[in-house]
This record gives sequence, structure tokens and C-alpha cells, in this order.
Amino acid sequence: MIGRRAVLASPALLGAGCASAQVPPPIPQAAAGPGLHARAAAKGLMFGAALNTGQLAEPDTTAAIRAECGLLVAEYEMKWDQVEPNRGDRRFRLPDRLMEFARVNRMAMRGHTLVWHESDPPWMGRLDARALANAMQDHIEATVGRWRGRIGTWDVVNEAVRAEDGRVDWLRRTRMLEVLGPDYIPAAFRAARAADPAARLAYNDFGCEHATVAARRKRMGVLALLRGLKRAGAPVDVLGVQAHLQAGQPFAADEWQDFLSDVAELGLTIEVTELDMNDRALPADVAARDAGSADLVRRFLEATLAQRAVRAVVTWGLSDRHSWVHAGRLPEHRRRDSARARPLPLDDAMRRKPMWHAIAIALDGAPSRA
Ligand code: G3I
Repeated sequence: MIGRRAVLASPALLGAGCASAQVPPPIPQAAAGPGLHARAAAKGLMFGAALNTGQLAEPDTTAAIRAECGLLVAEYEMKWDQVEPNRGDRRFRLPDRLMEFARVNRMAMRGHTLVWHESDPPWMGRLDARALANAMQDHIEATVGRWRGRIGTWDVVNEAVRAEDGRVDWLRRTRMLEVLGPDYIPAAFRAARAADPAARLAYNDFGCEHATVAARRKRMGVLALLRGLKRAGAPVDVLGVQAHLQAGQPFAADEWQDFLSDVAELGLTIEVTELDMNDRALPADVAARDAGSADLVRRFLEATLAQRAVRAVVTWGLSDRHSWVHAGRLPEHRRRDSARARPLPLDDAMRRKPMWHAIAIALDGAPSRA
């Protein structure tokens, strides 16, 4: 295993953080020693990635997943719009294939995600309060119940906080909120607990990580929600921080660690659930871009993993080949030049990039949870 000391002593492997370091070209997998999950497990942590069934047909992708991951999550095929496209018409064939791949490869699975305004099935829009409450209950019972005992953590509610919506409770104005009121959130957690008492139940959100006014407001809203859920006795166990990082935005380890401490003091554990890097603000030059991305990822993860309540790191895909960022759904993802985004630890050819080394350094240097 390449220890942190060895890596730090060899600028070529540093990847970033030292201005003088020569950023290494992407290197074949075997060249840099144990995979990221092996390094995580040595510290009592887990490392994994999001995937979809289309990637199961790619031998180089599945080989890289086997080499790097001990934890998987469905990028979209476990979401409500996918598993119940019509009321009562439940379709689990595709997520079952992901569950089977995880089982055969002795990997854990995260469940993602039960209630999210962006994956509300279209038929939901026509339901009144009673019908919608029943539909959510039935969906959670059926979906969580299908893999009872096989999902470590469920993202029960996703992205329910939006300060810009101006509510005193910081909640996002979604269809669920409009029809059922804020109680849809504890109700979802209670339904999930009843369906699988063994699963840890998470609230998952994005935009908390940076030292910006927007992130500070987001963190206040998330903390307010978590404190309210705990006061109400809702069975919430985990905060999922998505960590879709933005190169060029400031990151302050101290204020981030203060937030993580506040969450841990509620008795929650924390999981990094969708780590990737929007490198739009970095130069087109690959070496420079990779170095900048790796430096921010390393600083973020070193600060995050110093908090012992943090138990897992999941990237939102493993290889640049599969990143959602290429879809350009968000304006802030669209580069002005023709350069292709490089958001993830492996490049299109499944070679380990400086970001991979940054994650390895952070995992190797993390305090042990074992
Ligand atoms: O692969 C199918 C294709 O066969 C089909 O022809 C096409 C049209 O229906 O759909 C394709 O699947 C799409 C898939 O992305 C492709 O990767 C799904 O419709 C589409 O819903 C899916 O979008 C996902 C999105 O969540 C909405 O579920 C993205 O993959 C996924 O990266 C994104 O992930 C979210 C997290 O769940 C929550 N946090 C933010 C993150 C990024 O938006």
C-alpha cells in the first residue's frame, strides 16, 4: 500500500496541493496500489460510487468498480418515477440487477431516494392529500420492503431545504409540501423505519459545503430541519452531504467542521453521498484542471474525515465517462470552451487521476473508526 508519507514524498503522486508538484498523467489502476475502498475499510470507513445498469455492460467499468468500491448506489433506477411509473405499477427489474451485482461482488448498497421533488412520478400531480399520503406510504412500504435487510442507508427525503423559497422553516416549496404540509417529511421517515428497521435513514442534500452565503444559509436550513425532526422523534439517523463541489468557490475547513460537529451533536452520522467536481472555473488544460480539482477534493475530504461521525464517501459515478455533468442540465456545468468536464476520480479510460490520489491521501490520513 502506498502510505500517505510515501505519496507526500513523491510529488509525482501528489496530484495537487503543492504548486511545484508535477501533476502525474492518469495512470493504470494497478500502478497505484490498493483501491479506495480497501483504504477506506482500513480506517473503518466505506468508499463507493453511483452506477446504473447501463454500466454493467461495460467490462472496464465493472472491473474498475470491483477494484475501487465496497458500496454502491443507484444513480436513478431506484427512484419513485422509475419504480412506479404508473400508480400501483411497480417495476424493480433494473434496481434488482444493481442489487444482485452488489451481492455477487460483496458490496453494500445505499438506497436512493424515496421522496424527491425531481423524481415525483407524473401521476402524483392529480392526487388529493389523502390519496397522496397513501401513495407515499405504499411506495415506501413496497420499495423499502423489497430489499429489507439489504440496504445499509436509505436516502429517505432528498433536497427538501431551499432558503430561497422564503419559508420560515427553510423548506422547499414542492408538491409534497403544498399538499401534505411539512409533516410529509417525518411521515416518510416513519414509513421507512417500519418497512426496514435495520436500515439507517438519511436526509440528503446538496450545496452545504462551500464558504459562501448560499451554503451558509443552506447549512442553517438543514440544521433547522434536522433539529425539528429529532425534536419530533422522527427516526432520522444520517445526514447525507452530496458534496457536488465547485472549483473556484471558497472552502473553509473550520466552518465546515463546525457544521459537521453540530450535526454529530444531534446523534447523527454523516455520509458523503455524491462527491464530484464541477471544474468549469478551471483552465481547459487537463493537467492544471486535474491538479486544481484534486487539491479541493483533498482539502474537503481531509476536513470532512477528521469528523469521526463521517462514515462513508461515495462519488457520483467513478469515471468521467459516466458523469451527469456532461448532460449540461445545469448552466453552471456548461464550459465556455470545448473542454470536456473531468468531475470524477477515474478518467474516461478508467485510469486513476490526481483526484483519485487526493481521495487516497485523505482516506489514508483519516483517523481510524475501527
Ligand atoms: O438511460 C435512459 C435512456 O435509456 C432513456 O432513453 C432516457 C429517456 O428516458 O432516460 C435515460 O435515463 C436518464 C438517466 O438520467 C441517464 O443517466 C433518466 O431518464 C434521468 O432521469 C436520469 O437523470 C438522473 C437525475 O438524477 C434524475 O433522476 C441522473 O442520471 C442523476 O445523475 C441525477 O442524480 C441526482 C441525484 O439523484 C440527487 N442529487 C443531484 C443529482 C444530480 O442531479
